[in-house]
Amino acid sequence: MLKIEDLHVFYGGIHALKGISLHVPKSKIITLIGANGAGKSTTLRTITGLVKAKKGSIKFLDEEILGYPAHKIVHMGIAMAPEGRKVFPNLSVLENLKLGAYFRTDESSIEKDLDWVYELFPRLKERKKQKAGTLSGGEQQMLAVGRALMSKPDLLLMDEPSLGLAPLLVKEIFEIVQQINEEGRTILLIEQNAKAALKIAHYGYVLETGRIILEGTGQELLNNEDVKKAYLGEA
Ligand SMILES: Nc1ncnc2c1ncn2[C@@H]1O[C@H](COP(=O)(O)OP(=O)(O)OP(=O)(O)O)[C@@H](O)[C@H]1O
Ligand SMILES: [Mg+2]
Repeated sequence: MLKIEDLHVFYGGIHALKGISLHVPKSKIITLIGANGAGKSTTLRTITGLVKAKKGSIKFLDEEILGYPAHKIVHMGIAMAPEGRKVFPNLSVLENLKLGAYFRTDESSIEKDLDWVYELFPRLKERKKQKAGTLSGGEQQMLAVGRALMSKPDLLLMDEPSLGLAPLLVKEIFEIVQQINEEGRTILLIEQNAKAALKIAHYGYVLETGRIILEGTGQELLNNEDVKKAYLGEA
């Protein structure tokens, strides 16, 4: 569904992505793990057109999308739940969710998807009139995911959805990611919580300072000694 080849991204003189290649097949959960500053968010921002690449290729459903403006990429069916709870603080939960559906033309099914998001996140339903800025951190995180879902993406890019959440909520978020996938969405998941991500992922890539140094099924990476040492906190 998504194929990245030899992608190079620079921020001024910083070579943030040094020729990465990865593949996200339809209906799968693919995870990208790596330390702070490895280039994970940069990868997602480049896919969504927010960051320009110097070289390489990003094909979505066999169409080259590198260089397309961000709104066109959303239109094609790619949505991102960004890192760090970027919700609109002065808008209500409901208004935030409706903004996620901004580019959709199928008005009639928007209400249905709203119900679906409320089913996934009952907490958001209880608080639909509350200003997003007054939600707890975890609730804002859920809202960011819910808003991305409201654009009804075929491919959902998630940038650290579990960041800063309490253990119980982390578990809940990973269950929801799985559920979203089982309902037909393809997911590219970025996580520092490597263990939980690899457990639910069909396939994973390890990014280290702008390069993919390792790839394999979730299980293979979980069992890999280097991954264990560097990312799973195991000796
Ligand atoms: N706008 C920017 N201008 C300059 N350098 C940037 C910019 N955004 C990111 N970088 C640099 O690019 C590198 C990759 O950053 P990126 O945000 O992709 O990392 P990450 O893997 O998402 O890290 P984290 O886990 O901390 O979120 C880092 O060295 C970072 O400092
Ligand atoms: Mg990041």
